[in-house]
Formats: sequence, structure tokens, C-alpha cells
Amino acid sequence: MNKVVFWAIMIGVVVFGVLAATRSIWQDPAEQTWMKGMIKKINILPQETSEAYAKACASCHMLYAPSMLPARSWAKLMLGLQDHFGDNAELAAPIRDEVSAYLQRNAADKVENIYAQPMLNLLADDETPLRISETKYFMLLHDIVKPEMITGNPDVQSVARCEVCHYEALEGRFNRFAVRIPNYYKEGIWRKIVEVKQE
Ligand code: HEC
Ligand code: HEC
Repeated sequence: MNKVVFWAIMIGVVVFGVLAATRSIWQDPAEQTWMKGMIKKINILPQETSEAYAKACASCHMLYAPSMLPARSWAKLMLGLQDHFGDNAELAAPIRDEVSAYLQRNAADKVENIYAQPMLNLLADDETPLRISETKYFMLLHDIVKPEMITGNPDVQSVARCEVCHYEALEGRFNRFAVRIPNYYKEGIWRKIVEVKQE
């Protein structure tokens, strides 16, 4: 190859590399946002946080992301707090209204993320589930998770304890590669850990 052509290509490669590596400095911020937009959609936590919601709703279980249920479900749930799955979770009126408004603003029908839209699409119009774990999308996603892995598993006990299996749940990530099931291991399928007797 001609020496001049060789060096022209080499310089071209180096210039391209430098420009690519410094993209965040010279590129229009508007053009960089597609990546940030993607991250927002993969993470199901809302942009808006609420101290009232955290105080009122995280003492008995993890703070569920508002986008995991439609607005009508949150409305129904907030009306029945005195008998909340067998517990009394009643709140003083001003706090209840603040939490309700927050849940309405950030419910599945108000935001866009990888969970909200497929969940809504699989919901019938007249369906108002009170549990995330009762929605069709949830059940399809957990098809391989058998009752003995949950209720029959002393270290899980309830499907409502998302964070036991999804160890990034509190950061808003429910990735199937960030899942563990206590007392089980994955080898193709999930298998129960049994004691191995050593000779
Ligand atoms: C006094 C304890 C307590 C408080 C406070 C409480 N909850 Fe609950 N919540 C429960 C129990 C118990 C369950 C049922 C858990 C189970 O099935 O293992 C539950 C379940 C739920 C579920 C259904 C989870 C599923 O299975 O998908 C949602 C949604 C929920 N709570 C929302 C809320 C909201 C919103 C608040 C705040 C207004 C709240 N909770 C406050 C005790 C509480
Ligand atoms: C007993 C453990 C367990 C519990 C409890 C549990 N999950 Fe899961 N979840 C799994 C497993 C295992 C998978 C992956 C299924 C697969 O690989 O097909 C999964 C998958 C998912 C996915 C899809 C992830 C992806 O990559 O597409 C979501 C979203 C999810 N779970 C949300 C929840 C929420 C919300 C709760 C609580 C209300 C919950 N899970 C409770 C075990 C659990």
C-alpha cells in the first residue's frame, strides 16, 4: 500500500477515536438524551419521589413503584386502607390525599417504561387489580416461579416481597439476570438446593 494512503487512514482512525471519546463535550446535549431516555424507561422508579409515600407505605413491605398498577387500582386501594390485605394501614386525611395524588400522577397510565405499557395492554378495561402480583403481565413474567418457591419457601413466604428475589428492586430494576431465589439455584431451570452428603 502507498505510504501516504496508509498514514491518511491511520490519522483518520485516530481523529475518529478522539471525537467519539469526547462526544459528551462537543455534541449537542439534545442528541445525547436518547440514551438517558432509554435508562429512564428501563428503570421503573418515577422521576418524582414522595416523602409522604415512603413514610406511609414502606413500613410493612417495600415501596412499590406507582407505575406497576393503573391509576384506578391505586384509587381503589387508597379507599380501603382500613382493611388493607388484612392489616390496618389507615392514614390521616391530609397525608392520605398527598399519597393518593402522588400515586395518581405516577401511575402506569401516566408514565412510559418497559413495565407499565405491557402491563396495561394485558389488562381488561373493567379490571381493577389491587395487587401487582394479580395482573396478567406479572403472572406471565413469573410463569416459571412455582408456589413451592414462594409460599412453600421459608425465606420468601410471599410474592409481595419482590426485593427478596429481585435484589435490585429498591433501585427500580427488575432484570431477569438480577434475580435469585433463596434455597434454589439456576442450572438451565431453577432447582432446589439439596444437601450433598460427602463421603
Ligand atoms: C400495616 C402494614 C402495611 C402498611 C402500612 C401498608 N401495607 Fe400494603 N400490604 C400490607 C400487607 C400485609 C400486604 C399483603 C402482603 C402479602 O400478600 O404478603 C400488602 C400488600 C400491598 C400491595 C399488593 C402487593 C402485591 O401482592 O402485588 C400493594 C400494592 C400495597 N400493599 C400498597 C400499599 C400502599 C400504597 C400503602 C400506603 C398507603 C401500603 N401498602 C401500606 C401491609 C401494609
Ligand atoms: C420467588 C422469587 C420472586 C419474587 C418474590 C418476585 N419475582 Fe419477579 N421474577 C422472578 C424470576 C425468577 C423472574 C425471571 C423469570 C424468567 O427468567 O423467565 C422474574 C421476572 C420478573 C420481571 C421481568 C424481568 C425481565 O427481565 O423481563 C419483573 C418485571 C418482575 N419479575 C417483577 C416482580 C415484582 C414487581 C415482584 C413483587 C411484586 C416480583 N417480581 C416478585 C422471581 C421473583
